[in-house]
Order: sequence, then C-alpha cells, then structure tokens
Amino acid sequence: MSDRYIDFANSALGHRLVGALGLPSPVRLERWEAGRLRPVNGALLIGGGPLTQNVSAFANKLTEQIYSYGPKLKAVVFDASDLMQTGQLKQLREFFQPLMKNLEHSAHLVIFGRAPETLSDPFAASAQRALEGFSRSLAKELRNGGTLQLLYVGAGAEGQLEGALRFFLSPKSAYVSGQVVRLNACDTQVQDWTRPLAGRTALVTGAARGIGASIAETLARDGAQVVLLDVPPAKTDLDALAARLGGHSIALDICAEDAAAQLIEQLPNGIDIVVHNAGITRDKTLANMTPEFWDAVLAVNLNAPQVLTKALLDSGALHDNARVILLASISGIAGNRGQANYAASKAGLIGLAQAWAPLLAARGISINAVAPGFIETRMTAQIPFTLREAGRRMSSLGQGGLPQDVAEAVAWLAQPGSGAVSGQALRVCGQSVLGA
Ligand SMILES: NC(=O)c1ccc[n+]([C@@H]2O[C@H](COP(=O)([O-])OP(=O)(O)OC[C@H]3O[C@@H](n4cnc5c(N)ncnc54)[C@H](O)[C@@H]3O)[C@@H](O)[C@H]2O)c1
Repeated sequence: MSDRYIDFANSALGHRLVGALGLPSPVRLERWEAGRLRPVNGALLIGGGPLTQNVSAFANKLTEQIYSYGPKLKAVVFDASDLMQTGQLKQLREFFQPLMKNLEHSAHLVIFGRAPETLSDPFAASAQRALEGFSRSLAKELRNGGTLQLLYVGAGAEGQLEGALRFFLSPKSAYVSGQVVRLNACDTQVQDWTRPLAGRTALVTGAARGIGASIAETLARDGAQVVLLDVPPAKTDLDALAARLGGHSIALDICAEDAAAQLIEQLPNGIDIVVHNAGITRDKTLANMTPEFWDAVLAVNLNAPQVLTKALLDSGALHDNARVILLASISGIAGNRGQANYAASKAGLIGLAQAWAPLLAARGISINAVAPGFIETRMTAQIPFTLREAGRRMSSLGQGGLPQDVAEAVAWLAQPGSGAVSGQALRVCGQSVLGA
C-alpha cells in the first residue's frame, strides 16, 4: 500500500510547497536491508554513567566509528541509570542539547535508566521516572526520522544490552519511538548475530499475507525454521510462501473446535517461538454491533491465542526458553471508535502477556505483546481516506509503518536473549499520539 503524500513531500516541488504551507513533512525512513552486517552505519556517541563501560565492551561490533564526543551522529547512547536526585537530571540537558542539531537522517537514540519500582528511595525513584517524560518529549522533538527509547536496565541485565542495542540503534526499529522497555536478567544468549534464531522453530499464525507473511520472512532470514499457519482458503498463498522460506504450512482455522489437537499433532518436535498474528476486524459502533461481529473478533483475536498457547504448554510442545509474541494493537491501548470488540480483544492480549509472564518465567519462557499503530496493509487500505490520512500523520514520524517494522520487533523479541523482556507491550507506532 503506498503513501503518495510521502512521495510528494520528498519530491523537489513537494518539499518546497510543504515547507511553505507548513504541512507535515514525513521523511523516508531508513530500513534494514538483507545482507547488511553492522547495526549502525555511522558515528555512535556513548555518554553518561557506569553502563557505558558495558556498552564500550561490544561497541566495535555495532559500528566502526565510536566517539565520546564527535561529528554528525547516527546513534547515541546515554546512561542515566545513576541519576538519583532532581539536581542531577540537568545532565540530560547538558548532554543532549549540543547534539540535537548534529544528528544524521534516521538517527537512533537510547537512554538507560533503572526501573523506578525497583528503587527504595522515593526521590531516586522519582528521578528515574522523570526519564520517561524526558525521553518521550525528546522523541517528539527529533526530526528526519530520528527515534529515541528509554531502557530500564535491571540488575543482571547488562549481558542483554548488546541484543537490545542491535535492535534499537539500527534501522530494524525504524518505526519504534518513545518507548519505555524494561530489561531483566536472562540466562540464554544469541550465539551468532548473523542468524540469531538459528536452531529454533517458529510458528506464525495468519502468515499467508500482510504482517504475518513479513514476520515469517524475517524469522526465516534470522535463521529460524518456520511453520506457517492460515485458514484453508489461503492455502495456495501459504504453501507458496512456506516453499520459498523452506518451511512447512498448516491450513487450519484457529477457532476450529479441534484446532489445538490438530496443531499439536502437526508439531511433533515441539516449538520454540509462537507468534499469534492472525487477527480480524469487524468494526461497528457498539449501538450497531451484532453478536456475530462481537463473537468473531473475540474468538479469533483473543480466545484462540489463549487456548492454543495453553494447549501447547500443557502438552509439552512449547519448549523451555520459548518466546511467545501476541499481536495486539494501539487500539487496545487507546480505544478506538467503532472498534469496541477489536480493542477489547487486543487489550486482553496485553493483559494476557502481563499476567502470564511471571508464571512462565521459571521455565525461561517469555510472553510479550507487540502493539502496531497504523501499518500499511490490506487491513488499513480499507479505512476511509480521511481517517486513513489521520492515522498516518498522527505520530511523531508522520507516516504509517510497514509490515517489516512490526516483523523486526517480533524477530527481536523472539531471540534467545530477549527473555530479558517479558510481560510487556512494545508499540510499533512511530510514537502515535493515540493512547500515548
Ligand atoms: N495493519 C495494521 O495497521 C495493524 C495494526 C494493529 C494491529 N494489527 C494486527 O496485526 C495482525 C496482522 O494484521 P494484517 O494487517 O496483516 O491483517 P491481514 O488481514 O492482512 O492478515 C491477517 C491474516 O490472519 C488470517 N486469519 C484470520 N482469521 C484466521 C483464523 N481464524 N485462523 C487462521 N488464520 C486466520 C487471515 O487469513 C490473514 O491471512 C492482526 O492481528 C491485526 O489485528 C494490524
């Protein structure tokens, strides 16, 4: 699905007109391309507190240009984890102010902190919570496709900083901005960064097209053996994609009464990564909502992921250290007129991740939600033009995301080391104003 306004705004004439009329001027975001090796193509600046030492230990694997001060910047890491009093927060202004006009196109910035709820001193907790307001605001001030995230680094999570920065400092997170993510200790590690999912088998539901197809391609790119599932009418597309990716396909309606039994039978060697991507919309305001519309959305989007995950767990098919990823939506965070059924189902998924995570931790299994904003797919192409335009522009990046953007976030959460993140909802929404 193409966004003609971006094409126009980036043409020579369009650029002048957009500037003169004060219209939004979204830039083309830099994205990860197959075959690329280094996460950062340009200068990386590292500053701040003690965690900079951890980053310095692997920074030469991220880029060839590392600076403690320097030229135009492609990536910035600032460790604010030791700012424990209000007075110390000025270090944020002192560090970031001089470099705000010195960033390259699609620059990626990351701030480290300590999760406020882990600090016993109320003033320290307050100083660390202040990082959230600062980060989200600075993310909104970035231009030219820049992004910024806050990572709260827990005790023992230092070993997972490389995996997190390989995602958040690279074009893999092109459409993720203004996010707050908590990293905790995790026993498993990526062995080979060129194929971080090697040796793992991944199931993707709703994989015949759209975001699901992109997730399957990305997981296969990262070395996973993929199992693609979709409804029987989508079998031709599903089989073709599975053949191209060297995986296998399962034509199955996830709401069928015997879906769990069929799925388990088709996964004789079990599964390491489960991506519940299949989803539907049946939009109506509640006054006009039919029982069929309500039931269908709740059945596909919420009940099926619950039932299937539980069956995979109970049968032993879900391996230790598995990664479960639920495709939610910012509708489930902000609510959306005409989507009471859809938003309920997607909020339910976020709740499922939150509630299940602590129970699965003993087996090293993580469960997270990914909440996309406006993504250019067949689903969003059906939205009426004015609403579609509003959905695209109402974010810090001023444009819709691509299926690849959601897929990259899923692929990161699927990595062995990403057990560091669990029970959380990661928005892939260009810092949409909805529900922010
Ligand atoms: N496109 C967006 O902007 C957007 C935004 C937020 C969230 N999402 C979520 O991302 C996911 C993928 O969205 P998309 O835009 O690619 O949708 P899509 O409609 O293009 O693809 C969904 C896929 O799920 C499959 N599916 C539906 N019901 C199924 C069932 N009962 N059993 C098995 N497969 C079934 C469909 O056949 C289809 O291939 C969905 O969960 C959606 O809610 C999308």
